[in-house]
Amino acid sequence: MSTLTIAPHGGTLINRIRPNQQSEPTKRVRLDERALSDLELIAIGGFSPLIGFMGSADYHAVVETMHLASGLAWSIPIVLAVSTEVADGLEVGETLGLEDKTGKLVGLIELTEKFTTDKTREAEMVYRTTDVAHPGVKVLYDQGDVCLAGPVVLFERTPHPLFPAYQVDPADSRAAFAERGWRTVVGFQTRNPIHRAHEYIQKAAMEIVDGLFLHPLVGATKSDDVPANVRMRCYEVLIEKYYPLNRVILAINPAAMRYAGPREAIFHALVRKNYGCTHFIVGRDHAGVGDYYGTYDAQYIFNEFAPGELGITPLMFEHAFYCKRINGMATAKTSPSAPDERIHLSGTKVREMLRNGIMPPPEFSRPEVAQILIDAMRIS
Ligand code: ADX
Repeated sequence: MSTLTIAPHGGTLINRIRPNQQSEPTKRVRLDERALSDLELIAIGGFSPLIGFMGSADYHAVVETMHLASGLAWSIPIVLAVSTEVADGLEVGETLGLEDKTGKLVGLIELTEKFTTDKTREAEMVYRTTDVAHPGVKVLYDQGDVCLAGPVVLFERTPHPLFPAYQVDPADSRAAFAERGWRTVVGFQTRNPIHRAHEYIQKAAMEIVDGLFLHPLVGATKSDDVPANVRMRCYEVLIEKYYPLNRVILAINPAAMRYAGPREAIFHALVRKNYGCTHFIVGRDHAGVGDYYGTYDAQYIFNEFAPGELGITPLMFEHAFYCKRINGMATAKTSPSAPDERIHLSGTKVREMLRNGIMPPPEFSRPEVAQILIDAMRIS
């Protein structure tokens, strides 16, 4: 049987899941939704080579140079931010309990450092804007002023409350790819219901690789994004009817969305490398929001790394549309059509149609997917 050749980022798949064998830590830190999903991703190896929340050396290297202090590529800071009041009661060298929003103890952090950051600088460098209307910048500005650093452990891997069947951790996806004999696998990030342009670029990629790892993000997103439970139903009906099932694995990515556009595209690619993907799709305005990034900025940023440095191959796609002349999906690279022969539908326009109970046209969305979205709109 063929084996998968891609190594995790940094060479070793991190596993920080350890049963709780210590006495109750006296001090605890409460994690918000994002910090909890970061803990989870560190523990399961999705953020390999990270074994904990970043210290100041890694933080500054990432913000300024898109590399960890070790020199390994990394584009998004992973920090545990708390208020000054909370931080003041904690001593470096202590082992602290980590609890979820219900107060349940879920893991530990060995506190190696407390440090403050320049949020404006981080916003400029990571998000390319200091505008608080940007959802990622808003989270950054709202978070506490002190970062707690150190190695972490998660006590147990509990099934996802909504999508247990799709909880496929990096060790599992790697095993699943090997079991199918896939030597090349393309990862697809999404936070939206899959429309025809998504399907087009996935299938264009599937023509040249062995399998598709359809990996929607189900961690925290902004409030007007379609909720993950609705999206998951869309993915299920879509692949059931329109994809060869032996060529696709649907799995959830528990990460929180940062909306950091180009920087997040690099981050998304590295995380999928840890899941075992050899290729990663980057289309138009990947992980973007509003008008903060140019249409292809998330593709250009890959040129800032040395060839082979990231260890995963990006597959870049131009803006796809439905072409009336060709009677199918296309991009400007494959269709000579005039602008008025191209149907571009924005997510915003579709949300508006759905709110008014209007079915998006088949040129934009498969009818089964549109129906799920319309039904979900009626209920909400
Ligand atoms: S994202 O925030 O997760 O990037 P979305 O779910 O819309 O948002 O996009 C998933 C992937 O599809 C990204 O790589 C994005 O660039 C790509 N994409 C979305 N729409 C198009 C389109 N019309 N043409 C080409 N690529 C697209």
